[in-house]
Amino acid sequence: PEPNGDYDLTKPITSTSGLRQGLTSYGDAHFSLFLRKVFIKALGYSEDALSRPIIGIINTFSGFNPCHANVPQLIEAAKRGVQLNGGLAIEFPTISVHESFSSPTSMFLRNLMSMDTEEMIKAQPLDACIMIGGCDKTVPAQLMGGISANKPILPLITGPMMPGSHRGKRIGACTDCRNNWAAFRAGEIDVEEISEVNEELAPTIGTCGVMGTASTMACVTAALGMMPLRGASAPAVSSARLRIAEETGANAVAVAKSSSKPQEILTKESFLNAITVLQAIGGSTNAVVHILAIANRHPQLQGVITLDTFEEIGKKTPLLIDLKPSGDNYMNDFHNAGGMMALLQVLRPLLHLSAMTITGKTLGEVLDSVPTKKFAFEQDIIRPLSNPLFPSSSLVVLHGNLAPNGAVLKASASKDRNLLTHTGSAVVFENSADLALRIDDPDLEVTKDSVLVLKGIGPIGNPGMPEAGLIPIPKKLASTGVKDMLRLSDGRMSGTAGGTIILHISPEAAVPDSPFGIVETGDLITCDIERRRLHLHISDELLKSRILQRKQILEAETGPVQARKQKRGYRGLYERSVNQAHEGTDFDFLTANGPVE
Ligand code: FES
Ligand code: MG
Repeated sequence: PEPNGDYDLTKPITSTSGLRQGLTSYGDAHFSLFLRKVFIKALGYSEDALSRPIIGIINTFSGFNPCHANVPQLIEAAKRGVQLNGGLAIEFPTISVHESFSSPTSMFLRNLMSMDTEEMIKAQPLDACIMIGGCDKTVPAQLMGGISANKPILPLITGPMMPGSHRGKRIGACTDCRNNWAAFRAGEIDVEEISEVNEELAPTIGTCGVMGTASTMACVTAALGMMPLRGASAPAVSSARLRIAEETGANAVAVAKSSSKPQEILTKESFLNAITVLQAIGGSTNAVVHILAIANRHPQLQGVITLDTFEEIGKKTPLLIDLKPSGDNYMNDFHNAGGMMALLQVLRPLLHLSAMTITGKTLGEVLDSVPTKKFAFEQDIIRPLSNPLFPSSSLVVLHGNLAPNGAVLKASASKDRNLLTHTGSAVVFENSADLALRIDDPDLEVTKDSVLVLKGIGPIGNPGMPEAGLIPIPKKLASTGVKDMLRLSDGRMSGTAGGTIILHISPEAAVPDSPFGIVETGDLITCDIERRRLHLHISDELLKSRILQRKQILEAETGPVQARKQKRGYRGLYERSVNQAHEGTDFDFLTANGPVE
């Protein structure tokens, strides 16, 4: 401690503690520090405590967020890690976003959370920041904000929930939410049984227990090198999770001292590793949007990681993890099989081992630090490269006249692989309300070979790109046993869902000159997986004239551009500023170097 030196006007303020850096200015630097200390001392901290590296811990607990219900315990454990290593831990709140309680959509709030995270990290006197997140949008939001703030950051994941049990079978949110609901819709199970299922789908706190978006982003964050590898999969209710929190606290003090900033740690190679893992785990389609948004916050990587990167890596990466929705198991099985450490050992030949991690070691050094015999036991959750679950390209990127800027398909989660190469006649729904109104109409003209098209659920369209891309099979077909159809939209779908479903069509229908916006019922559409093509069978001239016609109608109806400019509040900001899915659905003014093209 240096109780008096701090205010000695003849000496510069040189200590590295965040409190000493001129964050809030009240005139001269010494007076500013003097004032900051006045107020922080009101909390009871001593000069000794305040002379330590200050580690901020972001508290995203919320009574509406069961995925984050263990945050108080994680904070306690992280604080222990910080304080045992000579730091001072100070927690502070940001908003908390849960999938089910974020109207109109959680994606709508992701960018808000990223702004909250970025500005609070920048605003407050901290030397490093532990960001506790877990539910789908929170981890991407924190990475986006943390990279933009570019102070040392350490993601800490809340962890997956445990599976439940229904009549002798394991079930878990939310792949089995959808399977069971589809069975109920088809009349295969009755209302009593679906109520029983409802009690068991989320039997503990924590994030969804399959390879949905939350688990995917946890694995991606570990692959980026930003957290301990075990941190991706340890269950929310496990003691391992608390030890990871303690370790994160210890790491935070080291990172504060070395001042390693995310824009230095993260390179193109880190992202190539993350995308390799995404493909190998059969990860969520949502992660494509998030990874693009995260990379585009980095000044050296904006526009470098694109949809093509996912496609190129996909071609050489097999799907190795047997987890729902692509496979059969749950996150705790993945953890027990060795989790990310075991997976990365298998993936070694495909990884950039020189990529740096938060520990100061390269990824290769981290992998070398564990004896490989630790993972040499019988298990069938993490497959070897020689026996994959799906040979390559679990996530594919399609282009064509229907999606000039791309579309995404999780080929490995297709239930009827014949549909991956298919031509059918479009049945178009203009928006979610139209879909709800007509999908179960007994008179709907639809066959199992039709292509279901849902417009108006893109970033601007809804707004917030809802997870409504899992268009239900029309009841009259479902009841005859149809389980999958080719389905298209400009929206997203839950990472826990499956089917032959093309998503993120860009530009979305709400953009006036979107080709997707002019598809009509009866048009022929082809998905050709081999050629990565999504094609609308009409002439270029007809396509152009339909776009022109639609633009005129749109403008005459509402003057959409003007109306958007005038909307108030966050919704107005969102609709004016959100970019398209192939750019990450971020705000154009938040990307590192301004709008991406
Ligand atoms: Fe939070 Fe699924 S609802 S992870
Ligand atoms: Mg989800």
